[in-house]
Amino acid sequence: MKVSYHGHSVVKIETEGKTILIDPFITGNGLTDLSVDDLKVDVILLTHGHNDHVGDTLQLAKQNDALVIAPFELATYLSWKGVKVHEMHIGGAHQFEFGHVKLTQAFHGSSYTEENQTIVYTGMPSGILFTAEGKTIFHAGDTALFSDMKLIGERNTIDVAFLPIGDNFTMGPEDAAVAAEWLQAKTVVPIHYNTFPVIEQDPVAFAESLSGKKGRALAVGEVIEL
Ligand code: NI
Ligand code: MN
Repeated sequence: MKVSYHGHSVVKIETEGKTILIDPFITGNGLTDLSVDDLKVDVILLTHGHNDHVGDTLQLAKQNDALVIAPFELATYLSWKGVKVHEMHIGGAHQFEFGHVKLTQAFHGSSYTEENQTIVYTGMPSGILFTAEGKTIFHAGDTALFSDMKLIGERNTIDVAFLPIGDNFTMGPEDAAVAAEWLQAKTVVPIHYNTFPVIEQDPVAFAESLSGKKGRALAVGEVIEL
């Protein structure tokens, strides 16, 4: 399995011949190396409805006939815009042909802002536990620190955890360091920083602050092989 980081909260997973994108915010993401028009994707996983996470989901799903997996209300909303969806909810897991997906809680909001100054609420935000080839990836989505991360760490052997460090909207570096301890992940990768001035952080300093040399600030496009 190959896992790579593409700026903001965009994570790409390649497993069993399938390409999976988490939170594909590409248009408007000044830090990404991806371009929407030539991006091949089979499956899109969404943590919540905010526009910096749904991103280019509609175009990508339509041009690739990709499946969109998201919390129920968000998936339903996107299905009305003409894409194939699989609805899930927090605590629920499903074995797909490409891997096992379980949604966890996240402490955040979930809404989609339309161009006509309308906010559509899209249920609860989530994190994602993704398991394939015997390896588990945790993408925390956007979230505050919460103590049930200990439970997620106890009940799952997490190989790589992607944790937001941007502060303001999510955990900052200090809270994310506590999350890293509680989740007991073998590798912790910071996400959701430097895309906008209000979430500027030093990802290398964060990675170096973690015990056990488990922190790893990935360059955009950098791949972890599992
Ligand atoms: Ni958000
Ligand atoms: Mn966000």
